[in-house]
Amino acid sequence: MSGNWQLNLDRDVFLNEYWQRKPLLIRNGSAGFTPPLGSDHLAGLALEDDVESRLIEKRDDGWQLHHGPFSTADFSRDHPWTLLVQAVDHYFPEVAELQRLFDFIPRWRMDDVMVSYAVDGGSAGPHYDNYDVFLLQGEGQRLWRVGQHCDSNTALLPHQDMRLLQDFETQEEFLLDPGDILYVPPGIAHWGIAVGECTTFSIGFRAPTINDLVSRWTDELLLQTDDERFYRDAGRAPCTRAGEIESADVERALSQVRRALEQNVDSQWFGELVTEPRYDSEPDPDEQEQASTLLHNGAASVSLHPAAKLAWQEGEDEVTVFANGEGFACQPSALASLLILCNRQCLTGGTLDKALADSDTASMLERLIQSGCLHVE
Ligand code: SIN
Ligand code: CO
Repeated sequence: MSGNWQLNLDRDVFLNEYWQRKPLLIRNGSAGFTPPLGSDHLAGLALEDDVESRLIEKRDDGWQLHHGPFSTADFSRDHPWTLLVQAVDHYFPEVAELQRLFDFIPRWRMDDVMVSYAVDGGSAGPHYDNYDVFLLQGEGQRLWRVGQHCDSNTALLPHQDMRLLQDFETQEEFLLDPGDILYVPPGIAHWGIAVGECTTFSIGFRAPTINDLVSRWTDELLLQTDDERFYRDAGRAPCTRAGEIESADVERALSQVRRALEQNVDSQWFGELVTEPRYDSEPDPDEQEQASTLLHNGAASVSLHPAAKLAWQEGEDEVTVFANGEGFACQPSALASLLILCNRQCLTGGTLDKALADSDTASMLERLIQSGCLHVE
C-alpha cells in the first residue's frame, strides 16, 4: 500500500461497540498518512464526462447543487463551495488502496471512495446517509459536527434535489487534521465544514434494503416452488353470507404462505445481489476475446477491474463465485487463486503460472473475464 498505512484501531472493540451503532473519532487513524490524491487531480476528474461529480455552494439564500462535468471556470466562486467526486477509486489505484485499511469488513460491503475538495467554509451541508462511512481527512482541516439519529420521518429542508436536514442537534464536534478518521454509522446526522481548503476521502459501505432481500429471496423461492400447488381449504366450515371472505379464510392462506416460506432456498441470490455493480458497463466482446487469448498465451498478469465486485461462498464440495452480480460454481482448487485476487486484486508471475496450471482455476479466470471483472496484460 502506498505509504504502508496501518489503521490505528482495535477492530474487535470497533465492531462490537461502534460499527452500525455509534460514531467514532479515530485520531491519527492512519499513521504516516499522506493523501493519495491532490485537489488538482480531483478537479481534473470532475471535468470528465463519464465521472459522477457534484458541486455544492452555500449562498446567502440557501444551498445550490450543480452536477458535473464541470469546466475550470466553475471552480471560481464568491461563496463557499465544495466539489464531490464519486468512485475516485475507479480512476486512481492509490485511492482504491485506501479500502485496504478497512479490510476487516467484507469487501462486498464496500461501496466506492468519494473524494471531496472544499474551500474555506465549504460544506455538503447537514445531512444523514443510509450507509456507514469512514471520513478520512486528506489535506487541511475540517470541522465535523455529529448530530441526532435520523430516519425517513426526519424533517428536511424544502429543496428540489438535496436532502438537507431542517434541524441539526449537535451532539459532538471534532476538528480533523490530516490522517484523522471520523466513522459515521447510517442514520446519524453529520455536517463537515472546511477550515481553510481541505480534502476528505469518504470510504463508504453499502447494504441492500430489506425490501431488496425479500424480493430476491422470494424470486428464488418462486423458481423452486411447484407451480401446481394451490390454496387448499379441505375441512372448511360452510359459508353462510354470500360473497364473504372470512378471517379464517385469510388465516388459512397465511398459514399456507408461512409453510411455503419455510422451505430451504438456495442462497446464491444473496451473493448475486451484493455483488451487483453500481455502475453499468457492458464488457466489450472484442476486448474479452483478446483477454481470453492472452490469458492462455503468455499473460504477465491478471488484475481485477477497479469497479469489479467479486465475492465467494464456500459450499460442501464446491465454491460459488460471485462476479459483478453473476454466480457460478467452481472447484475448491480455484479457491487459493481466488483468495489472492480478492486480497491483492491481481495474480502475477508464479501465482499466475500456478493458477493457469490448474484447469479449474483457469476456467474460473475465464468466467471472470466474461463477467467483466478481469483485466489481462
Ligand atoms: C464531504 O466530504 O464533504 C461529505 C462527506 C459526507 O458527508 O458523507
Ligand atoms: Co455524509
